[in-house]
Amino acid sequence: PEVPKFAVPLTVPPELRPRRLPERLDYYDVTMKEATAEILPGLKTPVWTYNGSFPGPTIRARAGRPVVVRQRNLLPEEAAVHLHGGNVPSGSDGMPGDEIPRNGSRYYFYPNAQPAATLWYHDHIHHQEAVRTYRGLAGLYLISDKAEDALGLPHGPYDVPLVIQDRFFNADGSFRLPGPGEFAGDVTLVNGRPHPVLEVERRPYRFRLLNASSFDGLLALSLSNGDAVQVIAGDGGLLPAPVPVRSVPLAPAERVEVVIDFSRYPIGTQIVLRNSLTIFGTAPEVMRFDVTRPASSGYHPLPAKLVPVRRLKESSARVRREFTLNLDPVTGKMVINGKEFDPERVDIEPRLGDTEIWTIVNAEKPALPIPHVFHTHLVRFQILDRNGQPPEPIEAGWKDSVNIEAGGWVRIIMKFGDFPGRYLYHCHLLGHADLGMMGQMNVRRRRH
Ligand code: C2O
Repeated sequence: PEVPKFAVPLTVPPELRPRRLPERLDYYDVTMKEATAEILPGLKTPVWTYNGSFPGPTIRARAGRPVVVRQRNLLPEEAAVHLHGGNVPSGSDGMPGDEIPRNGSRYYFYPNAQPAATLWYHDHIHHQEAVRTYRGLAGLYLISDKAEDALGLPHGPYDVPLVIQDRFFNADGSFRLPGPGEFAGDVTLVNGRPHPVLEVERRPYRFRLLNASSFDGLLALSLSNGDAVQVIAGDGGLLPAPVPVRSVPLAPAERVEVVIDFSRYPIGTQIVLRNSLTIFGTAPEVMRFDVTRPASSGYHPLPAKLVPVRRLKESSARVRREFTLNLDPVTGKMVINGKEFDPERVDIEPRLGDTEIWTIVNAEKPALPIPHVFHTHLVRFQILDRNGQPPEPIEAGWKDSVNIEAGGWVRIIMKFGDFPGRYLYHCHLLGHADLGMMGQMNVRRRRH
């Protein structure tokens, strides 16, 4: 179907209201179920949802205050919920073997023992990661903390999540999976709306960008007037200082937060958020900001300093590992160090308290330039270098997902902190994870 641009207003996913328990934790009930959403005007799209909403409802958590989510599974198949970026016990991580059967339910415990950041949750049934999130099983989980409060960043209606996903549609409005040779869908959805418009006041806004594309939808986002945005946060939390950039790279699973100050523009200005990585025929227009009114209240200027990020020292690393990611041309599987994922096999055994340096190599050949996005569960990491060069300032904070182009490599450093047990690491082009590009770690307790 022809999808008109800038014809629908941006909406924001609903926020879940917790039940506050005397034990000082927030409790949520969520039901996974099939539903229909009106995504393209006048058409009904069957979707798989959390609580009937596409994308899923947003959970707002507070650092130091635990959350318990009871997930009830009314979907026609089993399900597993993973909190992406969460420092959570293994039993709450949505591991293979911990699936929720049809009509079953499971309690997930999220301690929120981590700083303010934009996380997200999504389904993690193996071999179906891509299809499940594509059908709609993804939502935001936002953690706030005191350090963030003190910065006076735009909040309330001026703190706007932008969940970006590409989709193909059939003529009847249903989602169509990409066919062979198709990579990124031809319609870009923001918060489930096709190429929407957001009317803004003349004031700064905070946007939390999540690339929740299931397949190969890499993004490089820029404003149509060429102006820079201020990047304030990455996957794992706030940066030490705002970084002005003209183009924001955003690979699937990555989060970048930006502040855009619309007070610079007269009423009537229209600015398109564009994606310049449209090699596969996706429309470059993602959404549009229309400046329609003066600021309705006061606001703080963006501080010059945000939250310090203590660099992990290379010299503190006890263990080094190397992971090579590639398509096996013989089997057609996607492999890490030559192996496809086996839920029965433990690939590595880091120890609690240890700092490790991992070299991640994308061994694809330039003739078939397949990107890979390496993601670790449980631990956040810092990028030491990319192809031997220090990371760009916007990548110099805490991360949990990193894009590596064909033939490239990154070195990342991480410290195993709070929880022992089994966790995954994998390529977050979920089609690649489906095809086996995933490994399992068993984090061991400290030696005595
Ligand atoms: Cu969003 Cu296993 O990841």
